[in-house]
Amino acid sequence: MSRSPNKLIPEDFTPTPSLEREPQVAAVAELDDSGLDAIGVLVASEGELPADIALDRAALARAGFEAEPGTSLVLPQETGPLLVLVGVGPSAELGVSGLRDAAAAVARATAKSARIGLRVPAIADIAAADVAQALTEGALLARYRFDILKDKAKDVPLDHVEMRLDGADLDAASEGVEIGTVTARAANIARDLANCPPGHLTATDIAAAAVALGARFGFEVEVFDKQQLIELGCGGLLGVNQGSTEEPRMIKLRYMPEETSTGHLGLVGKGIMYDSGGISLKPSDPMHLLMKMDMGGAASVLASFTALRELAATATVTGWLMCTDNMPSGSAYKLGDVLTARGGTTVEVKNTDAEGRLAMMDGIVLANEDGVDAIIDIATLTGAALMALGQLTAALFGNDDAVVGAVERAAATTAEQVWRLPLEHKYRKQLDSDVADIANLGGPYAGAITAALFLADFVGDTPWAHLDIAGTMQSDSDDSWRSKGATGYGTRLLIDVARKYRAES
Ligand code: BES
Ligand code: MN
Ligand code: ZN
Repeated sequence: MSRSPNKLIPEDFTPTPSLEREPQVAAVAELDDSGLDAIGVLVASEGELPADIALDRAALARAGFEAEPGTSLVLPQETGPLLVLVGVGPSAELGVSGLRDAAAAVARATAKSARIGLRVPAIADIAAADVAQALTEGALLARYRFDILKDKAKDVPLDHVEMRLDGADLDAASEGVEIGTVTARAANIARDLANCPPGHLTATDIAAAAVALGARFGFEVEVFDKQQLIELGCGGLLGVNQGSTEEPRMIKLRYMPEETSTGHLGLVGKGIMYDSGGISLKPSDPMHLLMKMDMGGAASVLASFTALRELAATATVTGWLMCTDNMPSGSAYKLGDVLTARGGTTVEVKNTDAEGRLAMMDGIVLANEDGVDAIIDIATLTGAALMALGQLTAALFGNDDAVVGAVERAAATTAEQVWRLPLEHKYRKQLDSDVADIANLGGPYAGAITAALFLADFVGDTPWAHLDIAGTMQSDSDDSWRSKGATGYGTRLLIDVARKYRAES
């Protein structure tokens, strides 16, 4: 990668440091106490306590531990590994999400331990592979840190996890561990990219990162530079880029299954490497400070591709990452400018801070030209989505119940929550322009909806779902599997959709 020398960024800086120190995870028949720093024991709120806990429920209750979900009790030991009890509530109510949360709770309660074990009671009704996958994800995601830019990182990195699942087939559990390792790794790649400072990860840099990831994880990467984008007529991405000294990049990703394909899924990600608002400059408030993460959608699409080969996804998947920063300058695009999208639609710019939809429109047109069976786009698109649904739930839109349903099912599996909002076509006239085919700004209300309606115009009749992840891209605190900072939201969800994708015919 070539960077401007005045930034003094080391040549060997990597935007995906998580890949350099991946913990080893294994399902085992028996925990090896001598090799572990801590053991987390999952405890249900009724039934027998695990045999080797030398305390009864009354004693635990006196210490304030009733095995409710999200609670834990650390039991120091004179010798051997630290023991941590983690509550999972009534076993009949325990699902995959509860297991992921429990493993995350263990990983957080044992933050000073590099080598941890998990002891898990027999769980009826959930396949051993799913149990192991969820536990793996919880532990690896909870212990994620972005600390390569710190001289002395204060947290102990996790380097070994082993889990004993009572009554489960070891092969099935091992399979789940492998899947969870791949999905958690992918989400942590997305977090790395989104946590990178904007000067450390420009559009050119993320393209280089994509090329490296493609070579390592088995997908094709084609990078389009500014001149090629001009030739393609991508006036949206180019318009947003106009104020920047950094070139834009469109990055096209392609995964092809080994065997015959079950369909062709298109994924489009917003890759605003830094969103200053442009001429419609954002105030220098805490929200503006988060705008290095305005490429969270592109990061989750790119990261999801790293999992497809290892998990043997059966569909063809093509991705378009629309990457540039959004800067004010003498050359910046202006309010009142009219941009021409790929395909010829003209767009009046009424606010340069509504840049995401402009960058996305070209990608959506290209996905349609490519003949995909369905499009899912993912974008940190509107503050309105954050205001409406907060940091835990993404706004979901779409023109097709099957694709939207697939996203909802995946979200339920991965605990990346979504809530569908209406594509209210009566609001479409708010996007009318006096001088162009459409304007990039709606009225004062329902901003997430008018943004989705803007994209819908470019989608046309292709089955489509849109995820507005402005709220979920980031977490203000460590919370279960979400670590403070970039969450990698959408990565595991997209992997899940892609793995199960079948075109309706
Ligand atoms: N990247 C922002 C949206 C955003 C806000 C993401 C908060 C994450 C957290 C987007 O480009 C933006 O600025 N949207 C404007 C649109 C408006 C000008 C119509 C917004 O939401 O205020
Ligand atoms: Mn903006
Ligand atoms: Zn933005």
